[in-house]
Amino acid sequence: MNPATHVLVISADEAWRQEVVQGLNHAGSRLDNPLGLMAVGCACDASALEAVLAAGPMQADLQVVLIDHGARGAESTGAPAVIAAQRIIDARPELSLYMVLEDDSDKLLVEQLASDAIDGYFFRGEQDFNGWFRILAAEVAGKAETPFYDALREYVAQAKDSWHTPGHAGGDSFRGSPWVGDFYDFVGEQMLRADLSVSVPMLDSLLHPTGVIAESQKLAAKAFGAKKTYFATNGTSTANKVIFQTLLAPGDKLLLDRNCHKSVHHGVILSGAMPVYLDSSVNRQYGIFGPVPKATVQAAIEAHPDAKVLILTSCTYDGLRYDLKPIIAMAHAAGIKVIIDEAWYGHARFHPELRPTALESGADYATQSTHKVLSAFSQASMIHVNDPGFDEHLFRENFNMHASTSPQYNLIASLDVARKQAVMEGYRLLDRSLKFAHELREKINATGAFRVLELVDLLPEEVKHDGIRLDPTKLTIDISNSGYSADELRDELIGRYNIQVEKNTHNTLTLLLTIGTTRSKVSRLFDAMLRLAKERRAPRAYVRVPEAPRFTALACLPRDAFYEAGERLALLDEQGQPNAALTGRVCCDQIVPYPPGIPVLVPGQVIEANIVAYLVRLLQTQKSIDLHGLALVDGELHLRVLSEAERAALPAR
Ligand SMILES: Cc1ncc(COP(=O)(O)O)c(C=O)c1O
Repeated sequence: MNPATHVLVISADEAWRQEVVQGLNHAGSRLDNPLGLMAVGCACDASALEAVLAAGPMQADLQVVLIDHGARGAESTGAPAVIAAQRIIDARPELSLYMVLEDDSDKLLVEQLASDAIDGYFFRGEQDFNGWFRILAAEVAGKAETPFYDALREYVAQAKDSWHTPGHAGGDSFRGSPWVGDFYDFVGEQMLRADLSVSVPMLDSLLHPTGVIAESQKLAAKAFGAKKTYFATNGTSTANKVIFQTLLAPGDKLLLDRNCHKSVHHGVILSGAMPVYLDSSVNRQYGIFGPVPKATVQAAIEAHPDAKVLILTSCTYDGLRYDLKPIIAMAHAAGIKVIIDEAWYGHARFHPELRPTALESGADYATQSTHKVLSAFSQASMIHVNDPGFDEHLFRENFNMHASTSPQYNLIASLDVARKQAVMEGYRLLDRSLKFAHELREKINATGAFRVLELVDLLPEEVKHDGIRLDPTKLTIDISNSGYSADELRDELIGRYNIQVEKNTHNTLTLLLTIGTTRSKVSRLFDAMLRLAKERRAPRAYVRVPEAPRFTALACLPRDAFYEAGERLALLDEQGQPNAALTGRVCCDQIVPYPPGIPVLVPGQVIEANIVAYLVRLLQTQKSIDLHGLALVDGELHLRVLSEAERAALPAR
């Protein structure tokens, strides 16, 4: 399918506008026009922003806006055009913006007001429409480029003989095999032929990019509003660790949400940093962890002005996102760098309803699982950097410490393509997802048995006034009125209706809408929910989950505890009760119940009786819980703790 591209010509001067639209379209009909560029006109008033935000399903994707600054002396010259430019940049920064000026003296004013977001200028007097068309077409083609993916396709098409890794040699080891030939057919020939390695110089090197990977990363940086972007093929889990090791030396102080993803806690161990844990808010009714209250962050910054880094997660798994600007400003005022884990928010840049992004709010680093919400393959993530003091050499050393020397090239290509898609059609697709989310909310609520939780339902009391917002593409449904348990409902959806949800807690189901959500999926989901609602059973009481204990204290740096051999103590005593011998001991591992995936203990933390009791209660009351970090000794669950001698030898925190 060929793309269709709109160029929006905005001018208060109707005659001029028509002339330009006709001139550009005439040029487009005569010149090479593979991207289907077509000019459309619009007055320089409120309708301009409406045109920029229109995203009907049949519409061509708008890529370029051409704004007429106006003729000298004309009534509507200047300011309205610059205001329109600023509004458009604010709404959709991925669009290319060209200004048409009377002469160079207008340029200063435009540059001052609209910053460096202007991509180019034309002059009113030289109406060279063929020339303008070529420039605009080249601009769109530049954004639509995928340097790495193009090179990969080209190389595969050259059908070179493989005398290098990987061993399947373009799939030849599978092809025709009576035992594993089906894998060749299942994965597909192209995927296997594109599974190449650093032995192919024209495909650049992820560990030292100077060619097509560097070009693709540069395009990604522009798209996501970063100074530098790096592709990571081992997920945001690795991205977080790389940044930690770059910014934090052993003993450096770090402020972090205790409910950060476990990769952040692993980063604490690897970097040797001294963590200051910030307790996040908790929605006790639904067992959902929310953001850290603004006042808690502020107090921590005031109490620890020597901290080097602050890391927060925005948005959370459940879609709660911080009002980041004031928080980042507070941290910066104290000289603290800010990392935002945007694993769940990589799409935000491409729709005004989801912005501002972390970088737009001033973050120094943002890590994004491009695979979670955009079209990249699993494990494909991006690290975006805007840190004014960025030490690229140090970052590179740390990046390479974590990256495989044999990255999967299909993942890199998928990042390139995901970026292109987000820029070229992300707005339209996200707009569709947001409309689906809105529609689903109404329809699911209308069943009477299920209720989609709104921001007010999800927000814990302590962050009610912190300017938190909800990403509407994450739909949390209260199921308690249906009479089904969450496990039963999840099983019904998958067994009877072929629908796999993102996750469930005890009282809720969570659905993730992405740019891959289609109308028919929405309709099948609604149909299933309606049928289940009709079979309604007697409403159940909310399942009260045991409340996670608060953080206790660190006896030493997490890294120091982690690297000791420790000794293993049973979780239960001989009577099957919580083992009292664990009280007061120092944990060596990170103990994480799934769900919700938040560590109850981190290495170096002092264990108290209520924590042991909590872990035991979880195991006894929740069949489906996994407790990560416990050791099995002779079939019994044990915790690794510091021996008395190890503890005495360690420097206290
Ligand atoms: C907040 C957060 N950060 C980081 C990660 C890790 O991302 P990835 O799966 O890309 O490694 C996750 C994964 O679920 C997450 O929820």
